[in-house]
Amino acid sequence: MTHTRLSLALEAGMELPSQGVIAVFGPRADTDLSDLPKDRLVLVTGFKPDVDAFTARGYACQTDAPTAAAAIVILPRAKALARAMIARAAGADVLIVDGQKTDGIESVLKELKKRERIAGTISKAHGKLFWLNPTSDFSDWQGRAATVQGFVTRPGVFSADGIDPASALLIQHLPQKLSGRVADLGAGWGYLAATVLAGHPAIKELHLVEADSAALDCARENVTDPRACFHWADATRWTAPARMDAVIMNPPFHVGRAAEPDLGRAFIATAAKSLAPNGQLWLVANRQLPYEAALAALFTHVEEIGGDKRFKILHAQRPTRQRG
Ligand SMILES: C[S@@+](CC[C@H](N)C(=O)[O-])C[C@H]1O[C@@H](n2cnc3c(N)ncnc32)[C@H](O)[C@@H]1O
Repeated sequence: MTHTRLSLALEAGMELPSQGVIAVFGPRADTDLSDLPKDRLVLVTGFKPDVDAFTARGYACQTDAPTAAAAIVILPRAKALARAMIARAAGADVLIVDGQKTDGIESVLKELKKRERIAGTISKAHGKLFWLNPTSDFSDWQGRAATVQGFVTRPGVFSADGIDPASALLIQHLPQKLSGRVADLGAGWGYLAATVLAGHPAIKELHLVEADSAALDCARENVTDPRACFHWADATRWTAPARMDAVIMNPPFHVGRAAEPDLGRAFIATAAKSLAPNGQLWLVANRQLPYEAALAALFTHVEEIGGDKRFKILHAQRPTRQRG
């Protein structure tokens, strides 16, 4: 949400209730909330890096929707998630929706106009903010869990429509001898973890590290093997409970819309520091992502062991820097 759109809306006569909780759904760490009374805000987010950033700045954060006098939805890109957030926020007296054109704010406004009277709209900075006093039933927008290819997913989680092809490719390249303690960094709804546990009886523990609480909730349903340990954590700051024998991962490489290879490199650094001296890392990445130099800096031996036109599978052995 831009500071400008919110302040323009307040100047244009949008009124926030004088009392009660103001819930903000889906703020990102860089969302400017300075026009809002901090002591009345409850930030509703399940993305751990954002939760950590806001908590450190003194904001109250939770994953469940509170009872609120006003609710502000920061529109996400995924349409099903946007609808689900609006449905969760619609119990408030005042509902404010803010988003960029590239995230689909125009089509959400159009859909909402079919069910509600829109009280006001501000267009600014390639986006829109509008507000309304919700009266209609949004239960059809709630966004329930779905079962896809035998796995539970929820709106907005990574690869909610099915198994990610890069992860499926990684599975084909993992050795049969995988054993001991294994970590899956950025475990999503659990496809890699569930498949690896099913095929590798010598694994003693598998640590699923995931930042998105909705994805991790799905993983808890999808990975019922007692060897699984679930960590709601920022993988770039995660400390393994013990040295891992192997790390597997399909790391994220986007922050918002921009490609951000530094995020993948930070995952590689966590893998290196989590591994035992003879530990091994298997990762899949889009072919154009430049991870080789980061791997070479942190591991004794690195090689590409397979792939196709879109993805490459990288295998790194024996971390050179043991930190923490
Ligand atoms: C490319 S997906 C891979 C998901 C899963 N391993 C699979 O194969 O379906 C990357 C995952 O990393 C998660 N993620 C993004 N940033 C993260 C962070 N800082 N710490 C932990 N997980 C993160 C995303 O929510 C997403 O589930």
